[in-house]
Formats: sequence, structure tokens, C-alpha cells
Amino acid sequence: MTKLVETLAEIRKKTAQARGEGRSIGFVPTMGALHDGHTALLHQCRRESNLAVASIFVNPTQFGPGEDFNRYPRTLPEDLERCLQAGIDLVFAPSPAELYPNGLGSTYAEVPNLTTCLEGASRPGHFRGVATVVLKLFLAVTPDRAYFGRKDYQQLLVIRRLVEDLLLPVEVRDHPTVREPDGLAMSSRNRYLSPDQRQKAGVLHHALVQARNAVLGGIHDADRVRQILHQTLESSEGVVVDYAEVADAQTLEPLDRLSERQAIALVAARLGATRLIDNMQLTE
Ligand code: PAF
Repeated sequence: MTKLVETLAEIRKKTAQARGEGRSIGFVPTMGALHDGHTALLHQCRRESNLAVASIFVNPTQFGPGEDFNRYPRTLPEDLERCLQAGIDLVFAPSPAELYPNGLGSTYAEVPNLTTCLEGASRPGHFRGVATVVLKLFLAVTPDRAYFGRKDYQQLLVIRRLVEDLLLPVEVRDHPTVREPDGLAMSSRNRYLSPDQRQKAGVLHHALVQARNAVLGGIHDADRVRQILHQTLESSEGVVVDYAEVADAQTLEPLDRLSERQAIALVAARLGATRLIDNMQLTE
């Protein structure tokens, strides 16, 4: 049976009790509006932990002015059902006041370097909000392992760095991106898309596949790969590219050539008011 926990005091009590009984704690932090990508994380967490915890919290500090905080889908009853089906023990769904008792502008966590490019450049302050809330959630839940999807690749690197730099005793595990049949990465924001936009959204994955095929076919000039990404994305009317980058998979530094370092392609594009991101490993 899944139990809904809404206060910090109760989640601390329940996780301390489990820890006292020698149970390992797995944790899936989410903002709700759960989809099959989340379900994969919930199942992995369930399999690998004695106490499986998920959180549902639409974190205000990771949304910039003019972003979709107010319209972000809030679907708690359906999310609880999905957690129940996945065998999750506790769902922590606190109020903003519970996690930010002194307001949103109080103490924060900042991960430099990794957060100035790509999503960080397009969404200033976003990763500060993510790092801050993930740290608060880790301190509340005290997980042994936490699970994140690779679709938010830069977020994954930021959280790994946060954990390393602050010596947090949490193992960060990642899960491959779960995709729709046409390759579109599952995302809570996909539900904003009109039928026409939804049909066009598959081009993000298509562009990444084209880029990877070009690399497999022997193209090692990163600018040529960027060009392929742009051309493919822009071939779909109404798709506005935010970035299409070829970067080092660990540091996210833009690459000149795809040879020695592990390379990843990362794209962000808008379809109307909806902004989607995706990525694909280009070299091993
Ligand atoms: O990936 C998300 O859903 C959020 O960024 C996270 C990690 C739950 C922090 O709010």
C-alpha cells in the first residue's frame, strides 16, 4: 500500500525508522504528471530498495519568470495510482511552505561550471533551483540510491556533481530515456502539444539519430554534425531551435572533433509555447 506523506516531520520519522531497521532506501524525485519514463524509474527503485520512496513536488525555484510553473500539470490522484501500481511505499508530496519555510529566496545550492551552458544559458537560475530542491529532498528522505532519467542529461550531471562535491552519501543511478513509438522522449510537457505539434515533435529524436548515423558513417567534424542537427530540426515547420550542440559527455564543453572524448548531442526546441529537450550519445 502506498502512503501519502505531506510533512517533513513525517517523512523524516518514516525514513529514520526504516534506516533503524536496516532497510535500504531508494528514492525517485519527481514533479508529478508521471509518465512511463517515471514508471521505469519507480520500478527500478522498487527492485533495488527495501523502502521505495517517490516525491511529487512542482518546485517553484527551478522555473524562471514567464515559464510554465502555473500551468505545469498537477495530477496527484493519477500519480498516486501509478506509484501504487509500481509498489512504491511512500509518496512525499510536501507544500512549498514545507520545503521553503523562509520563502523562495533563502539559502540555495549552486553547482558552477556545468550550469552556465545549454539549459543553464536558456533558463538562468534553473539548475540552482534543481540543486537546491534535490539537496533538501535528499536531506529529508536520506536515500541510499536516487534515480534520474537520462532525458534530462545536464540535470543528471549537475546532481552527480552536487553529490560528489557535498559528499552526500547517495548513489545516483540513471535510466535510459523512455520513448514514444516515433522516438519522442517521454516528458510531462508532451501533454501541452497540439495534435499537429505532437506529430512534428518526433523530429527531435530524428535529428539526433541523423547525427549519430553521420558519426557512425565517419563524420568527425563537430560543426558538420551541428549542421545536420539544425537542418533536420528546421526542416519541420514550426520547430524553433533553441540549441543543437555537440559536447563532451562529462564536461559539456563544445567539441571541435569527435574522436578521443566521449561525445553527446543535445537539442532543445520550441513548438509553439512548449519547449522540449532531448539528447543522444554519439560515441562510446
Ligand atoms: O526532473 C525533475 O522532475 C525535477 O527537475 C526534479 C529532479 C524532481 C527536481 O525538482
